[in-house]
Amino acid sequence: MQVVRGKRIRTLYSPEQIAQRNNELAAQIKGGPIQDLLVISVLKGSFIFAADLIRAMHATGLAPEVEFITLSSYGKGTVSQGVKIIKDIDSDVHGRDILLIDDILESGRTLRFAKELMYERGARHVTIAVLLDKRVKRQTELEADYVGFECPDYFVVGYGMDVAYAFRELPFVGVVEGDDE
Ligand code: IMP
Ligand code: MG
Repeated sequence: MQVVRGKRIRTLYSPEQIAQRNNELAAQIKGGPIQDLLVISVLKGSFIFAADLIRAMHATGLAPEVEFITLSSYGKGTVSQGVKIIKDIDSDVHGRDILLIDDILESGRTLRFAKELMYERGARHVTIAVLLDKRVKRQTELEADYVGFECPDYFVVGYGMDVAYAFRELPFVGVVEGDDE
């Protein structure tokens, strides 16, 4: 348990656990069929995970190109749920093998949108790496190819992930338990 700016935050995954898992994921990716990867980090939540994972990939000998896309979902909880592009990638993905990196796979809408978008643009192959999989929240068939941790259904913060714009800078993944009084 840590107190950060008056909030009690319980650690779910420590920096050491995350680093270890990133090395394991990088080894899995290295062992996979595709070596000439264009990594696309889905912002904002994945920026720290992507930064660490591509360096772990480098340590295995992989040399991915790196791109960024900012996606945002709207209409959460209503019938008109959708995903829109806030900032697009610059590269042409035609014929490329892509690894999408995101923080959390929850309903699956964000990553399904991203995956379909890349195939529509002519990508040859699209795989997905996520730090956390909240499987109980899934509302589509989508599965990730590489999963850091199967995450219980908590709202988590840290390691890039926020609640109301706060706590992205925490070096661990945690759950906000309440106010410290
Ligand atoms: P979905 O899979 O489209 O439902 O949405 C997943 C996205 O919602 C993730 O990429 C995160 O940006 C955000 N998200 C989902 N759960 C959490 C959480 O517990 N903490 C912070 N962001 C979350
Ligand atoms: Mg996200």
